[in-house]
Amino acid sequence: MATILSPAASLSQSQQPDIDYHPDEAKWRARTARRLADNPSLPDIPLPAGFPDTITGSLAWEGKDWNDETEWVYTLSTEELMEIDEAVQYFEGLNLPIYQISPSTFPLPTLGPVLQQLSSSHLHDPGTARGFVVIRSIPVATYTRFQNLAIYAGISVYIAPTRALQDPGTGGVIGHITDLRETFESSLLGAASYTNESQPFHSDPGDIVALFCLEVAGGGGGGSKLASSWRVYNELAKARPDLLGVLAGKFPLEMFNRAPPYRMRSMLFHHDGKIIIQNARRLCTGYMGLPRSKDIPPITEAQAEALDALHFLAEKYHLKLNFQKGDIQYVNNLCMFHARDEFLDTSEKRRHLVRIWLRNDELGWKVPPPLVKRWEVLYDAIPLEKQKFPLEPELRSASRGHTSK
Ligand SMILES: [Fe+2]
Repeated sequence: MATILSPAASLSQSQQPDIDYHPDEAKWRARTARRLADNPSLPDIPLPAGFPDTITGSLAWEGKDWNDETEWVYTLSTEELMEIDEAVQYFEGLNLPIYQISPSTFPLPTLGPVLQQLSSSHLHDPGTARGFVVIRSIPVATYTRFQNLAIYAGISVYIAPTRALQDPGTGGVIGHITDLRETFESSLLGAASYTNESQPFHSDPGDIVALFCLEVAGGGGGGSKLASSWRVYNELAKARPDLLGVLAGKFPLEMFNRAPPYRMRSMLFHHDGKIIIQNARRLCTGYMGLPRSKDIPPITEAQAEALDALHFLAEKYHLKLNFQKGDIQYVNNLCMFHARDEFLDTSEKRRHLVRIWLRNDELGWKVPPPLVKRWEVLYDAIPLEKQKFPLEPELRSASRGHTSK
């Protein structure tokens, strides 16, 4: 269980380190040099007790290992696209809300078992998985927004049937990822996902992060990047095991719009034989309309170095996906980091993704005790009939900035 503290409790007099949401390599290297100069024996600090020296297997990959995207892209055949089309027509004929999507209301007799196999072999099984898979390509332009969301939910129900609550304020179980700076003033935007800016390597909450690309940016950019957190772990275990000890310690993670204002929680766990990293950078640095509060404890210099190390090692070993309109990207968020490049929209083509957080209760990994409560809020807190699928973008309450102009 995560420790809950009030702002007044244990408030350190020290300052928040000089670290921003957007990583600065020069600052990271300077901080590392400073800390090692102060204490050259830092790298001699051993790994946390019981943690592995190295992780082997298919999930500990490097981007340079991959050069043939057919290994992770499943391109839907004409027959499978026809099956999806028949399923969405059938579902619409039932006149049901999208939360009623299930294998019986969205039947995929041929494709369904294929998707279930992909979920096991590519996302969940540490013996075979790379931690991600892309389903290509839904002809989104031929469908209405409702139909596209129904297709997305319909395919996803075969990958991982349980959807997470993304917005407790509305019951929203999907999130529109698009540049909303023309709709909302910047002080209301508390996450880079609502801008055109890059996002550093990070983890979302939940087991499986799904992204459906409705449109790419007309002016380019917006590349989707993935990195194996197990590969990053191996590098740190070899060169800087002390930083793994830092990551296994507790960080003051800001809760922004929720109470209490912060929680003390680790980012690194060793549970059920697996390493799990929850890289919650924004909760340590703040972003735009949700800056880091001054009346909560700062993170430490060591934590700042560890956060940057996660990003820059992920950058070193990442794979950039050729994410296309109509693609659905599924990522095991417990062993992978994701990031994106900045992008440039045009009036004709505005980048627009739709995010769902999923869990496969049969295949999903066990989460460590400090994450159980969070997972219960994600996956158990909302009855099916309260799940909302907003057709148009809206600000998630947890990412809404504090103040207006
Ligand atoms: Fe994310």
